[in-house]
Amino acid sequence: MEKSIKRVAVLTSGGDSPGMNAAIRAVVRSAIYKGIEVVGVRRGYSGLVNKLFMGMQSHSVSKTISMGGTILKSSRCPEFKEREVREQAVANMKEAGIDALVVIGGDGSFRGANLLHEEFGFPVVGIPGTIDNDIYGTDFTIGFDTAINTAVGAIDKIRDTADSHNLVFFVEVMGRDAGFIGLYTAIATGAEATLIPEVHTNVDELCSYLDLERRKNKTSGIVIVAEGHAEGNAHEIAALVKEKLPDYETRVTTLGHIQRGGSPTCNDRVLASILGHEAIEALLKGESGIMVGQINGKTVYTPFVEACSKHNKINNLWYEIAHILAL
Ligand code: F6P
Repeated sequence: MEKSIKRVAVLTSGGDSPGMNAAIRAVVRSAIYKGIEVVGVRRGYSGLVNKLFMGMQSHSVSKTISMGGTILKSSRCPEFKEREVREQAVANMKEAGIDALVVIGGDGSFRGANLLHEEFGFPVVGIPGTIDNDIYGTDFTIGFDTAINTAVGAIDKIRDTADSHNLVFFVEVMGRDAGFIGLYTAIATGAEATLIPEVHTNVDELCSYLDLERRKNKTSGIVIVAEGHAEGNAHEIAALVKEKLPDYETRVTTLGHIQRGGSPTCNDRVLASILGHEAIEALLKGESGIMVGQINGKTVYTPFVEACSKHNKINNLWYEIAHILAL
């Protein structure tokens, strides 16, 4: 027996990621298909608190599947850590006749979602949307595939100029505390060295990887520096290397927020569409306090508590392979 839900709300929260619109679209259309009304909440949790509600129809999400960003807008909402603020959010939803919520975001967003579920028994299901790919309970998060493709395109261009001028480039990629973007882009661009938070690499080791003399035919170098590395950011690491290898011409590029924008790849659109649909199915099955993810092509429910406390692990063998192939 399906649970009775008359009106569901959907919001996007935290850093935006390409494919969030495809997920919103899937939530809206799957809900309408089941006879459920949909309310879009603008600006994440602050929209719940400030009643930024808008009715959504099937046509509200027309032509959004290929759009980057989020049509509902997003925000980080530190006030949501306070119980009274969450209480207000629940009261606002009840007043608007909303009886369930879908949250599209990362682990910070799921912590808030879990409190709505635990403290007020409000039905909430999450969809993993972040470029960082750091959420436990899914092989991939929505936006990761687009972000790595954007980064690879940019690093390929950097390689052209690095080669032309015999330069060593330190390219900083996003990921917060996780090295997925770093590792994937390093393998795909043939980077000479990869620095990710999960693996400790000191500057001496890094310099030995960069020994272009030993690498005979190499004239340029790309060092991928993932955010969150213990030795510092790309500028700091480049300065340390320059001290030890003064003959090297070095440059630094921080790819930054271009990694969060742009039209989602096919993989991200498909993942977002499936998970958006599965979020509505989960609510109708009476699920709450869980995230819908995909592991080996199958939909998996993971309690928010686990999705937030555990982390996806990088494959250490892949890290070694990146190193071997860069010789
Ligand atoms: O979580 C997504 C992300 O882009 C991280 O990779 C990055 O560390 C962070 O958000 C940047 O956030 P902001 O735009 O708020 O500085």
